[in-house]
Formats: sequence, structure tokens, C-alpha cells
Amino acid sequence: MKTIRKIAVLTSGGDAPGMNAAVRAVVRTALYNDVEVVGVRRGYQGMIEKDFVDLEGTSVSNIIQRGGTILKSARSDEFRTKEGRAKAADNIKELGVEALVVIGGDGTFQGATHISQEHELNVVGIPGTIDNDLYGTDETIGYDTALNTAMEAIDKIRDTADAHDRLFLVEVMGRDAGFIALETGIAGGAELIMLPETLTQMSEVKKQLSDVFQSQQRSSLVVVAEGEETGGALKLSENLKEDFGKYDMRVCILGHTQRGGAPTARDRVLASRLGMAAVETLIEGHTNVMIGLVNNGIKLTPMKNTWARKKSIDFKMLELAKILS
Ligand code: F6P
Repeated sequence: MKTIRKIAVLTSGGDAPGMNAAVRAVVRTALYNDVEVVGVRRGYQGMIEKDFVDLEGTSVSNIIQRGGTILKSARSDEFRTKEGRAKAADNIKELGVEALVVIGGDGTFQGATHISQEHELNVVGIPGTIDNDLYGTDETIGYDTALNTAMEAIDKIRDTADAHDRLFLVEVMGRDAGFIALETGIAGGAELIMLPETLTQMSEVKKQLSDVFQSQQRSSLVVVAEGEETGGALKLSENLKEDFGKYDMRVCILGHTQRGGAPTARDRVLASRLGMAAVETLIEGHTNVMIGLVNNGIKLTPMKNTWARKKSIDFKMLELAKILS
């Protein structure tokens, strides 16, 4: 087994609360094992533009509790090209870096799969995205924080919805996946949850809402995932205007508030465990894998499977939401 002496770490794609805790764990575990660490700022774009910074133990002091990412993040179009990836690989090898830790979501891991195959660079991934849509881990870093942020917002919206007897359509993030919508919907007691994973029948939506209002309930809250196929909360409000206009409907899009804020304890611990395991995995000689947590144990998944396979929502939870609403 080849001894690794120098690694690089980056955060890429949409930021997620807990990414800093993961960077801290990567740096401190590496130093503990006598491995040097270079930070790459602004994700893959920074790798192309040589935006590097040496990381010491103290560089990651006082960041475990902070949202965002001290390394900054970006979505790089140039890295999607072979030429961009070649430039990035050359730059990192020039520094004497032998392996790379990437923290991000499916786009990040697609890039990682390509660069590791094209340039014989050892790469491991740490799942960091609020969407929780990566195959190979029960939860991604940032998901729990985003869930709690959205739930707190929903609780507040319910107060005002109730005071005015209004129908609120609350849109939560999730471009291709409904994990946030499903769990915040349950936690916030939503009357209806709309997800990209299920086909929305407008007639069924209208019937369910009518049933709610006929059961003496005067206010109501619908949680809609951003990627829901009929077009999100604004489009839904247009579709409902004719039949439900009398209920004084309002739309609230929670948007990027869900991406910020201090990570929850659960996200900090998850990030710390995955960060440490990522470095140990590289030292053991593995490459092109994502480190996940499955049934509370560390699990390695081939990088390609994390984005080529689809992680399913638990349809039993959807049934639960319907019964309880
Ligand atoms: O991937 C995380 C995510 O927050 C999605 O839920 C959302 O669709 C997207 O990022 C928004 O990206 P941006 O910040 O680039 O607008």
C-alpha cells in the first residue's frame, strides 16, 4: 500500500450546514496521521484557477458551529469539460497532492468520478447536500439542519395562517427529491404534501383540500417540494385560485434560508464521523468511493452509484402523513 503524505479537500455545489465540521474533521484526522492538507477554495473552479490554501490544525478552529463553508463553494462549468478536468488534475499534482476529498452532492460526485478515472487521482466523497438525495447514505450532511429550519418556519406560518383562516402553500427546497418536503410536512403537521416522486392529480389535490375545509378546519397548510412536477407553490396557487380563492390563499417560498444557519448537533456529529472515515479510507488505499452512514455504520459506495442510482423516499411515510393529516 502506497503511503499518502499530502491530500487536498474541497467543498462544491450547493453549500450545506455541517460542511465546515466535515472540513475540520478531514484536516485534523489527516494531521493526526502525519498527512499534510491543502484546501481548495471555490470547489472545482478553484482547482482550475489554483486557488489553494495550506490548512493547519488551527485553520479549522472555531468553525464546527458555522454554516456555509470556509473553503467557499461553486458550480464549475469548466470542470464539466475534459480540458477543465485535465487542468485541475495537473494543478493539484504539481502541489504534490496524492489524493482528494470532495464534499458535495451528485454534481460534485459526477465530477469526482470523471477526474479519478481520467487522471488516476485517488478521490473519496463526503455527502454534503441539504437535499439528502444521494444513494449510499441514510442521511447527507446539512439535511437535518435544513429540516429543522423549514419546520420552524412552518410552525410560524401556521400561527398566522390560523389567525387569518388562510390556506398557505409553503415551498421547500429539493430540485429533484422530496425528502425535505416529506419530513417537514410530517413534522409540521401539513394537511397535504406534494413531492416530485409522486404524480400529482389536481382533482385529487382539490378533493383533499375540500375535505380539510369541510371538516370545520378553517386554516390549512400545504408543503410543496420545489421540484414537484406541476411547477412548485406559485403554479399551484394559480391552479387552485378558482376553487379555493375564497380561502384567502398565500404562498411562502422558504428558499435559501434552508441552506444557512448553524448546523444541528446531528449534522456536526455526522460530518465529523464521515470526515474522519474519509481520510482513513484514503490511507487504506481506497479510491472512487463515497463514505456514507447506513444503519449507523460507515459504508463505502462506488462513487458512480451515488449519482447513477436513485435513492427512494419511504412511501410508508407518505401514507403516514395522509392518515395523520
Ligand atoms: O442542491 C441543493 C439545492 O439547495 C437544491 O435544493 C436547490 O434546487 C438548489 O440547490 C439551488 O441552487 P442555487 O443555490 O445554485 O440556486
